Amino acid sequence: MTDKPVLIVDDDKSICKTLKLHFKRKGIDVIITNSGMEGLRELDSLPSAIIILDIRLPDANGLELLKEIQKRGDGYFTIIITAFPDMESTVKAVQSGVGEYIHKPLDIAEIDSAIEKANNFFANLKYQEMDFVPIPEYKPSEGIRFIGKSPIMKELFKTVGMISMSKATVHITGESGTGKELVARSIHQHGSNRDAPFISVNCSAIVETLLESELFGHVKGAFTGASSNKEGKFSLAKNGTIFLDEVGEMNFNLQAKLLRVLQEREFERVGGEEKLKAECRMLSATNRNLEQMVKEGSFREDLYYRLKVINIHLPPLRDRREDIQYLLLHFIAKTSKEINRSIRFISQEAIDFLVSHSWKGNVREIENMVTHVVTMTQDESLTKANFASIINNSESGRIVEHLLTAESRNNPMPAPNGYNMESLNEIEKRHVRKTLEHTKWHKGKACRILGISRPRLDRKIKKYGINPSRSYATENMTSEQ
Ligand SMILES: Nc1ncnc2c1ncn2[C@@H]1O[C@H](COP(=O)(O)OP(=O)(O)OP(=O)(O)O)[C@@H](O)[C@H]1O
Ligand SMILES: [Mg+2]
Repeated sequence: MTDKPVLIVDDDKSICKTLKLHFKRKGIDVIITNSGMEGLRELDSLPSAIIILDIRLPDANGLELLKEIQKRGDGYFTIIITAFPDMESTVKAVQSGVGEYIHKPLDIAEIDSAIEKANNFFANLKYQEMDFVPIPEYKPSEGIRFIGKSPIMKELFKTVGMISMSKATVHITGESGTGKELVARSIHQHGSNRDAPFISVNCSAIVETLLESELFGHVKGAFTGASSNKEGKFSLAKNGTIFLDEVGEMNFNLQAKLLRVLQEREFERVGGEEKLKAECRMLSATNRNLEQMVKEGSFREDLYYRLKVINIHLPPLRDRREDIQYLLLHFIAKTSKEINRSIRFISQEAIDFLVSHSWKGNVREIENMVTHVVTMTQDESLTKANFASIINNSESGRIVEHLLTAESRNNPMPAPNGYNMESLNEIEKRHVRKTLEHTKWHKGKACRILGISRPRLDRKIKKYGINPSRSYATENMTSEQ
């Protein structure tokens, strides 16, 4: 159940006896003490333990004792037990970072679940020491989860927020798998008509001859096979949103009809005469270069300008590598939840490896790869080995190029790897050093800029042997957070 010893500090001897019996039966080492002093003495010989601590002891207050325990480092998980449940001490205990809080009379099931929590705590500690990153908890929400922390994506979220309240026509561009459809859905979901339908039409997936009837509907007998009247997508979208995906695939004839809908907001069913109103908002997307198509004469210029009243461009992942880690963690958490896996950590080495991959298929490629890896494992942690077999190793060399800053591109440094390029480690070392200098060795600020924890920053400083220049060393090394 746990490989840590359990130290019980309680003057109630019957409780000690019951717990001892319970733990012994499970093969767990138990040490019984009946006072604060005795408890602390035992701790001297226990570098790591689960402590069950009574809050009122004959010689000490459990909360004071808790502070003493905390001074001894991270190796302890404390379960406070008390016969006098009062809010004040509970709040204090929680604030001081106690592991668990249980009321007397003790319920053995509660003790067992606290031990389980302790196990998780020690597992987290072990993984963090090994430079593993925890997978966040995935909470399925009604809304769309749009992941992105890069400046470029933050701007994009703002734009989506602003334009969703308007009815303006928006054209979304970007390579395959960058999230164009997700943006379209987001615009709809944040708009005032979010309860109205969102209708997506993939113009490249429908045979040309049927696309017109698909969009505008048809009347009975309009063509062979039209055995009854049919509503088109423009009618079905009502006052919601119609999303014309791969709009560049539309033929010239249909382009003219679409232009009319945009200009006059009306259309007719195929074979019909009745004028119908188009009340929906129109969004479109393509990964083709429409401007080029206009130049070549395969896309109407007037339609092009009508569609892209507002243009949102989704950059490929290689231009926003900061997002890769968050997308990875998000998809691992989501897929684990969906297919019932309990993956809790991923190694930093795996993340670094994946961040340097080329991701030509953009976010969809990450999503597919994660689904594959998560499906194939029963482990609670993922390492580089889980991904390396899927990902073509030869890619990573090319990526270094993208990570080079403008500065280093202009002044390439001779690198020890035989190429005129820096390795990822060298780039990281330089960036960590630069950040520390920028914050004048204020490590708290540096951690916030780098988006890493304090122990990780310390490990990187040690790994790369980064030293502060003399002036920072004396002034700022100790003034943190
Ligand atoms: N920023 C993001 N956060 C979370 N999930 C994302 C993000 N971007 C894309 N996705 C997911 O990646 C997958 C691909 O996105 P989407 O279908 O929107 O791409 P696309 O640009 O329309 O691709 P294509 O051009 O191939 O149609 C979807 O499952 C989508 O939910
Ligand atoms: Mg798409």
